Amino acid sequence: MLEQIDFKKESQKIIDWIDNFYTDLKGLPVKSQSKPKDIYNLIAAEIPKEGESLDDILKDTTDIILPGITHWQHPNFHAYFPANSSIESLFAEMITTALGAQCMIWETSPAAAELEERMMEWMRDAMGLPANWEGVIQDTASTATLCAIISARERTTNFTSNEEGVPPGLRIYCSTQTHSSIEKGVVISGIGRKNLVKIGVDDQQRLSPTLLKDQIERDLKNDLKPCCVIVALGTTSTVAIDELTEISAICQEYNIWLHIDAAYAGTALFLPEYQWMMDGGDSADSFVFNPHKWLFTNFDCTAYYVKDADHLIKTFEILPEYLKTKTRGLVNDYRDWGVPLGRRFRALKLWFVMRSYGLNGIQQKLRNHIELNNYFAAKIQDHPKLELIQEPFLNFTCFRHVGEDTYSLQQLNQMNEQIIESINKSGKAFLSHTVVNEMYVIRVVIGQTYVEQVDVDDLYATLIEHLPLG
Ligand SMILES: Cc1ncc(COP(=O)(O)O)c(C=O)c1O
Repeated sequence: MLEQIDFKKESQKIIDWIDNFYTDLKGLPVKSQSKPKDIYNLIAAEIPKEGESLDDILKDTTDIILPGITHWQHPNFHAYFPANSSIESLFAEMITTALGAQCMIWETSPAAAELEERMMEWMRDAMGLPANWEGVIQDTASTATLCAIISARERTTNFTSNEEGVPPGLRIYCSTQTHSSIEKGVVISGIGRKNLVKIGVDDQQRLSPTLLKDQIERDLKNDLKPCCVIVALGTTSTVAIDELTEISAICQEYNIWLHIDAAYAGTALFLPEYQWMMDGGDSADSFVFNPHKWLFTNFDCTAYYVKDADHLIKTFEILPEYLKTKTRGLVNDYRDWGVPLGRRFRALKLWFVMRSYGLNGIQQKLRNHIELNNYFAAKIQDHPKLELIQEPFLNFTCFRHVGEDTYSLQQLNQMNEQIIESINKSGKAFLSHTVVNEMYVIRVVIGQTYVEQVDVDDLYATLIEHLPLG
């Protein structure tokens, strides 16, 4: 087909490679067992003088690269959060790459802009989000939250920060449990780390509205300017859901921007039975969730919604002469909806995924993950030496080994740390931890696209194998 390359013949090798990879995946160590510089030292020190064959490059991909990959798509990857992909998403990415379009403004690919607009509407409506919200695809939740903080900054300072620089004393509030991306956003936006106030949480790790209100009152008395509250629908540590009704009312009372970080758990809003998580959230100013976590759409793909798209555009628009167009105002030029100018055609993979599964298929898969998680949690509960730290929620369970009655907290913490370490070293599963009320606890997330009950049984068997004797 192409003159320089026999695409049909060569691409078959890639298809075969990917097919073998998926076939063999279950047998590969989930967590890469590489040590620092193992891979680096195997890679040639210099660029090759002459071009090399695809066969050679693929061989090295298998021999050098694969051992250095931690397999996020392995059905026994249970660490952190899901970052799931799917065959449908992969197909779309192949086409996106073939098209190689730069989708910075409508004119540079109208289909990309208009498909993005539709995909954001599809997801908004399926998730029961307010019908007047408009959305844009961003690379990551970190970028979306940065956009929210900068938008809040401009609203609080009436756009003088964009023109003259950021005045001191703008205050951003979140709980002690919210994600580190907020701290980063506060730093990058020029508001300053000292103005990020972390509010205490209740016994379910949810931001306390009473403490929030007290802090806002104190700040106002000290001539500081409350600017933005960021709540979590699903904290990274324990998937805690901040309760929105009271917090929304506080934000409205003091005219503070409300941003909802639903990066991880937001996908559950595709299930009507979990839409209670958004109760009270309709008055929020912005909302982010990551299809690249639990919606079978490979990284990167973040959905960012705002109540007032005009405000977002006014905050981020820049209009150099060479990008002036006649369609401005009639269409969405997404480069004005966030930080980067250049943009990938990410809507295509959402379209492929949502059309292939349909809403019913997506809901079925999510419910299946939730059932598998409950199944796993029930096994933990039945084991005399294991203790659930909280009720299983969505695709997440956290627990610990309780050891002997005589063990101190420190001994228990060490023991649980060792359990995770030895499981991860075995390559049979990959787990991560968090600390809850000073307890070191084991986190398990069951959200892989193709995970099945047999994988959960394998996980449980691996766990039992690695528990201390006695
Ligand atoms: C609640 C929450 N917010 C934000 C993020 C950051 O996501 P991203 O990697 O898309 O920036 C994460 C990632 O784990 C998260 O769990």
